[in-house]
This record gives sequence, structure tokens and C-alpha cells, in this order.
Amino acid sequence: MAPRDPILGLNELFNADKNPAKVNLGVGVYYDDTGKVPLLECVRLAERQVLEQASPRNYLPIDGLPAYDRMAQTLVFGADNSAANEGRVVTLQTLGGTGALKVGADFLRRIVPGAQVWISNPSWENHRALFESAGFTVNTYPYYDPSTHGVDFPGMMKALNEMPAHSIVVLHACCHNPTGVDLTTQQWDEVIAAVRKRALIPFLDIAYQGFGEGLDADALAVRRFAGSEGPLFVSSSFSKSFSLYGERVGALSVVTASSDEAARVLSQLKRVVRTNYSNPPTHGGRIVTSVLTSPDLRALWEQELGQMRERIRTMRNQLVEKIHARVPGTDLSFVARQRGMFSYSGLSKEAVRRLREEFSVYAVDTGRICVAALNSRNIDYVADAIAQVIR
Ligand code: LMR
Repeated sequence: MAPRDPILGLNELFNADKNPAKVNLGVGVYYDDTGKVPLLECVRLAERQVLEQASPRNYLPIDGLPAYDRMAQTLVFGADNSAANEGRVVTLQTLGGTGALKVGADFLRRIVPGAQVWISNPSWENHRALFESAGFTVNTYPYYDPSTHGVDFPGMMKALNEMPAHSIVVLHACCHNPTGVDLTTQQWDEVIAAVRKRALIPFLDIAYQGFGEGLDADALAVRRFAGSEGPLFVSSSFSKSFSLYGERVGALSVVTASSDEAARVLSQLKRVVRTNYSNPPTHGGRIVTSVLTSPDLRALWEQELGQMRERIRTMRNQLVEKIHARVPGTDLSFVARQRGMFSYSGLSKEAVRRLREEFSVYAVDTGRICVAALNSRNIDYVADAIAQVIR
């Protein structure tokens, strides 16, 4: 028997729980204030267009819909990116951000078979699993400092400066999962300089673009990296930003040295895809493309994304206040400073177990909670439960 997945396995436990008050703070999914995964209005309108066109379902190209690839690339790299304008960036439609990581990992394993991978400590549980399943040895670099609830930046830099050349470094471009703690612009510049100086291979994961500060601000690290000389891998996702989790819409982008190299890299990536799942599905890619190519739908999307971002902020602030009111002396103000869907709450594994067993409140064992699952109806219940287990 294989162990349950540390994140998606919680969904299984949650679904089996009969307690009507149960709350799922495990998986990184945005729920609206009524506790439902939203169908964005921009998606509903685009979906109607797609259905009216009733197009046949031929195979897509191995690398996906060309228009989707262009839009996905522009969203991450910006409209005026010199690497993209020079034809040096390759983008493929993938099965979510996870699919992008897997295609990138399998490709890298062929190109740099002797390299090792470094992920942040802590990181999204699946990063390690994905790169190990591609055949790599996976190590960690220091990232989160529990004593400051911030980044252990000296520790991180020291690790980067000691990695062998061609090591693969996985970095969270924004809304770090699980901690919600990001690097500053200046810290990114130092990281980029170290990565380039030591000829490391950066793999930026950007699954939460738009949930930090905004679409462009959240892509800052990717764009600064792309402006520096050297390879760059980027996995991006529309699961969260379009609330299209089940459609598996993501993209892998690779920045290369020349348009000639780009063509060769694309040819190799296509082999990886072809031998994995052949080519991506049509529906989600069409919806995202329809939204991003229509000025009206795009404006609506940005507005809806902004509302999701703001609602999460409100929930963060309320959670801090409500726990403070219940357990005076606790200072969870760091939760309000974290960005994205998650909060690294500092709850112990034992506290997480009690939350689950006594209150049917589900969180990841590491203490990560999905703030985006809190709403005006369940937040008091959750605050009560947390107060009980931390008292
Ligand atoms: C998460 O971290 O909960 C999300 O990225 C969903 C997943 O696939 O794990």
C-alpha cells in the first residue's frame, strides 16, 4: 500500500467525514464566501462561446493550442519581453502546473542526468515527489525561518553559493507554497546573480500568479530571471487564477540562448510529452484562450481575480483578530503578512491532528492552512477550534 498523498489524501478523508461543520483547509483551492469553488463569470461566458462554436475534438498539437501557448507565455513573461521577442522562449500547454513540472523534470533528466535538484525547505510536497520520480536526487536549501516567520536569506544564499554547477534549483516565483513568505525584489536580484554566477539551472514555479499583489507584480521574479543570461524553466498554472482546477490547464516555458536552440528544445520537449500523454486536452485551453484574447473577458477576469485576492486578505486579517480575541497574548500577525492562498500557521503536527479528529478541520500536517477556504460562515468555527488546540 502506498501512503496517502499528503495534500490530496486529505480530500479523501474530508469527503468521508460526516460532520456537517467540517472545513477543508488542506488543498490549495479557492472557495468563495458561500464555501463553493467559484465558476468565474469570465469562464462561464467564454465557455458559452466555446460551446456555441461546437468545434470538433481533433487532437491538439503535441505542444498544445498555439494561441494558448502565446497567451500563457505573455502572461508570465510580459508583453514586451526581449527573450520572447527574440524567439528564445518555448511554451507548451501542459496538464496543469504539475504537468509542466513533470515535463520539465523528464526533459532535464535527459539533458543533465548527473545533476541534483534543490527545493526550498519547506516546499510543496509534490516538488520532491515529482523530481524524484523523474530520477533525480532531491535536496533542500534553507528557506523559512520559524523564529522570524520570514526567509532565512543568509542560509538560502549560502546554500546557493555552495551548489555544484548545473544543479537544478526550484524556486517559487510568488506566493510561496506552503509558507506564503516571498523574497523581496532586492533578494531576488541577489538570488539571480548567485544562480547565474554558479551556472545553476533555475526552475521557477508560478502557480499562484495574481494571488499575491497582482498579475505583473507577481511575475517579477520570472521577468528578472528572463532578463539575465542563462537557461530558465517556468511552470505556470491557470488552475487557481481561473478556478479551472479540474481542466488541467498549465504551461511549461523554457528560455533558451537562441531561436535555434529554442527549436531544438521544443523538439525534445515534444518527445517527452508524446511519450507521456501524447498531447493536451482541448476544453480548458480553449476557455483560457478565449478569455485572454477578448479584451472584455480579460478585464472581467482581472476583476474577478482581484476579488479573490482581496477576499483572502480579509480572511487573513479576520483570522488573526479572531484568534487573538480568543487567546489573548497570541500574535499571529505574521499570518496577515503572508501572501497567496496559504498560511504557514505554526500549528504542530499534534495540533493539526486534534483539529482534524476533534473538530473536522483539515490542514496539512506541516501546519499549512488554506486561508482561501475560510469564509464568513466558517471562520468563527475555525478560530474556536484553533484556539482550543493552541491554548
Ligand atoms: C496544493 O498545494 O494544495 C495545490 O497545489 C494542489 C495540489 O495539487 O497539491
